[in-house]
Amino acid sequence: MITRRKFLERSSWAAGALAMNRNRLIPALSQAETHHPPAAAAAALDPNALAKFVDPLPYPRIAQPDGYRAAPADPHRKAPYYRIAMRETEAKIHRDLKPTCFWTFGSSAPGPTFEARSGEGIWVEWANELPGEHFLPIDHNLHGAEADQPPVRTAIHLHGAKVPPESDGYPEDWFVPGKSRLYYYPNQQDAAMLWYHDHAMGINRLNIYAGLLGTFFIRDDVEDSLHLPQGKAEIPLVLYDRMLTREGQLLYPVSDKPHAPWVPEVFGNAILVNGKLFPYLEVEPRKYRLRLLNASNGRFYHLSFPSGLPFHQIGTDQGLLQAPVPLESLVLAPAERADLIVDFSASRGEQIVLKNDAGAVMQFRVSGNLADDPSSLPAVLRTVPRIPEAEAVRTRWLTLDEYDNGVAEPILMLLNASHWKMPITEKPILNSTEIWTFINPTDDSHPIHLHLVRFQILDRQRYEPWTYQTTGKLKFSGPVVPAEPNEAGWKDTVRADPRMVTRIIVRFEGFAGRYVWHCHILEHEDNEMMRPYEVIAAP
Ligand code: C2O
Ligand code: CU
Ligand code: CU
Repeated sequence: MITRRKFLERSSWAAGALAMNRNRLIPALSQAETHHPPAAAAAALDPNALAKFVDPLPYPRIAQPDGYRAAPADPHRKAPYYRIAMRETEAKIHRDLKPTCFWTFGSSAPGPTFEARSGEGIWVEWANELPGEHFLPIDHNLHGAEADQPPVRTAIHLHGAKVPPESDGYPEDWFVPGKSRLYYYPNQQDAAMLWYHDHAMGINRLNIYAGLLGTFFIRDDVEDSLHLPQGKAEIPLVLYDRMLTREGQLLYPVSDKPHAPWVPEVFGNAILVNGKLFPYLEVEPRKYRLRLLNASNGRFYHLSFPSGLPFHQIGTDQGLLQAPVPLESLVLAPAERADLIVDFSASRGEQIVLKNDAGAVMQFRVSGNLADDPSSLPAVLRTVPRIPEAEAVRTRWLTLDEYDNGVAEPILMLLNASHWKMPITEKPILNSTEIWTFINPTDDSHPIHLHLVRFQILDRQRYEPWTYQTTGKLKFSGPVVPAEPNEAGWKDTVRADPRMVTRIIVRFEGFAGRYVWHCHILEHEDNEMMRPYEVIAAP
């Protein structure tokens, strides 16, 4: 707390003024805006000046085990053991750029892809072999990133995994270069696309921006029985945006206050797919399964193909939807995943650009051959039983709060007006069901993520922020909007949209212990839109 107080004093804001500004509405931070001083902008590269679609899309390499070790609960079963080192690496992100320096798992960003079976646990040893200094701007005012903390720290979290607390990568359980952590992932959950990334307290946004992220697939028999496109026809697409210097190096923007470099959001103009800028992919005229992940710090994508191209969403963060949902465009918030089936069979010989709003992201080059397509797109995918609201033993009301310094510059973001270090307030009982209601008085959409669990979105409803702010009462001003069809499966991250109340229903299953919930806009998470929560073993 001392640091916080110092931070506020330095920003010449007394704690009292801050309290009065609670929930003060901050003007919309548009996605086009980048919060960096003009100096940084001048040094930045304009990616649109580069040739498009000159690099083939890379497929991340599949992680291979380095051995076997006894499984924790069953010493007779040997579980695959992987060792993944984090290193500084150089990578070509575009034909016409010099190699870019990244921090990666293994030797690439994204790191190696894990392929796991549901019910078959694996060990992963995450080894920090990074250099001793950070190459991106640390803000020592942020909680956990004080000047007396080591600059290079990593904590590795498998996002979307149901894991015991000691393997979850708690943000304070970080380790420095030369150290490692051995984690066990039981994989006792449905087929889904998970992802792993850094989670170190106070510098998570920098470590992920540097490249510390990768994908992790869990497969199961239900998925196998559907005969979805597989092998070369199943393609992970990991999207993240970056700003680059003229020399093609990562540029992480800073505020114009040298003592407080933190910026509230980062929107890069270079959108990388599997680590390449404007890649192309040669495909056959058949169905493909695209596994999308938004690994950006703060960017929401609004993706579309040219009109007329059939495109279905079959799965979301935590696995398959009940039935395919036809879409014309897709919104993907930070940390969300989408499992798509795209049918190129009517596009022989065409070149199809995947767009984010008006901008090109990548290109699919459909060959002119006749391809045979053994895959199918079944009408029913998996049963997703709705959790009845009546099952909830408790409803929690949780606010998403931004604080500014009086001139509309955000300086702090909290969950439920609580700092990370304050006592734990969310303590669900193991195997109980709760409704979590997020009240968002800000102008930002916050993608809220809970560790350990999967959940369902109940609904969203607009309310009057002014009434709430002045009286503390919720006055709804719009209809109850159910989850969109492509959100109606199992989720682990939910868009809490501005001036809306968003409700989710969660069964706290798996393990008791301490986890976290947070906004997945990484700048928000680091300052300090993240809270611990604890699942309590039933008495
Ligand atoms: Cu994607 Cu707490 O993480
Ligand atoms: Cu997570
Ligand atoms: Cu947020």
